[in-house]
Amino acid sequence: MHGFSKNCLEEYQDQNIMTTNRTFTMLKPDAVKKAYIGPILEQITASGFRIVAMKLTQLTTADAQEFYAIHKERPFYNDLVSYMTSGPIVAAILEKENAVEDFRTLIGATNPEDAAEGTIRKKFAASISENAVHGSDSNENAAIESAFHFSGREQF
Ligand code: CMP
Repeated sequence: MHGFSKNCLEEYQDQNIMTTNRTFTMLKPDAVKKAYIGPILEQITASGFRIVAMKLTQLTTADAQEFYAIHKERPFYNDLVSYMTSGPIVAAILEKENAVEDFRTLIGATNPEDAAEGTIRKKFAASISENAVHGSDSNENAAIESAFHFSGREQF
């Protein structure tokens, strides 16, 4: 569970949005820099995901520290925060039946060396740290991460 302020999550839940068919993704700085936004979004939408919300944005250090607070004790935490703030990202909410699990299948393993052929990370990721895309790991985190980036008015 992330340590985000409860207000955002409560606001999100209060809007009575069905969260079980939604997941949250970021196209990370390496993917944006290498001009992979188009091909990655094409693969996502061709795989049956509907874009509910999307923006090009850049995380501040405080944003990234909060978003990845769950990894605070991990040795890669500082590198992760500096990498995730190194350039623009695309943040998006995606909708599909069984969204969280199906999206994680579509992106492949965290380390692209272990990712299955044809997955987004296998095709577009450079390394375990610069791994092109994020996908929420549970319905609860999808709701929390979506609320971190988007208000209800930004979701369609
Ligand atoms: P993601 O799952 O999107 O969010 C946490 C990120 O931490 C993960 O992608 C990787 O980019 C990064 N990460 C996870 N494990 C390691 C590791 N062992 N070394 C470096 N980075 C890692």
